[in-house]
Amino acid sequence: MKDVWNPEQYDKFKDERQRPFFDLLALVKPQENMRVADLGCGTGAPSATLHRLLQARETLGFDNSEAMLDKARELASGGLRFENSDIETFAEESEKFLAYGQFDLLFSNAALHWVDNHAALLRRLTTAVADGGQLAVQIPANHHHASHLVADEVANESPFREALAGYIRDNPLLTPEQYAVLLYQLGYREQLVRVQIYTHLLESREAVVEWVKGTRLTDYQKRMPEAMYETYLERYRERLMERLEDTRPFLYTYKRILFWARK
Ligand SMILES: C[S@@+](CC[C@H](N)C(=O)[O-])C[C@H]1O[C@@H](n2cnc3c(N)ncnc32)[C@H](O)[C@@H]1O
Repeated sequence: MKDVWNPEQYDKFKDERQRPFFDLLALVKPQENMRVADLGCGTGAPSATLHRLLQARETLGFDNSEAMLDKARELASGGLRFENSDIETFAEESEKFLAYGQFDLLFSNAALHWVDNHAALLRRLTTAVADGGQLAVQIPANHHHASHLVADEVANESPFREALAGYIRDNPLLTPEQYAVLLYQLGYREQLVRVQIYTHLLESREAVVEWVKGTRLTDYQKRMPEAMYETYLERYRERLMERLEDTRPFLYTYKRILFWARK
């Protein structure tokens, strides 16, 4: 499948996207000489911040988009490096992930919603958390917002439905309570799970399209020819504008689940 992640598009809302990153980082208890993994590291800038602020011994950023990794690798230095790896395979073959050794912190900001079966995923990731180590995860949970609902509705219209062979992105998220139970069952001695609604003041409702183009829509973009994606975008914009209030600025609400746990 095409790699349609675009660092420039993603970074259009860099300041807004950094807020949950820093909130997640604030949950981490710094230790000396940490070995850190950043799953779905994107452009690598957040991994570099993580590495620097935690004064980590080593930080490994994992991502499966070469476009994102090209950017990230510019930041590699000292103990900070980046690997092309699919988190999905970490879930299926934990041995592969374990070959990287254990980590004092497994960190993932805004990436695990792209991976299915969170119960199995977290179970397997936990095997890579060292004794006394931490897991810190932020997962976007905005699938009930019109920005996300309309993406699926348009994907279900002709001719997109045929081009996508009926594919609609499944939401793999568990409820906050289920994450809490799972973390307990996985043997974490301490934990915190919270839901947070971020409010982003965007210039207008049109900016929501730009936001979602950098993330959620990539899933449909990579599955259809480029020309058809342009038509999909037009239709998406048209349908979305019917659902969003025309105010300037426009308040975009964004629900996210954050959780932290220590073994
Ligand atoms: C929304 S970005 C978040 C990037 C970064 N963590 C941040 O805070 O800015 C999601 C990233 O997850 C990566 N990603 C999505 N599915 C993945 C997978 N199965 N394995 C590895 N990386 C994945 C994408 O390539 C993208 O760079």
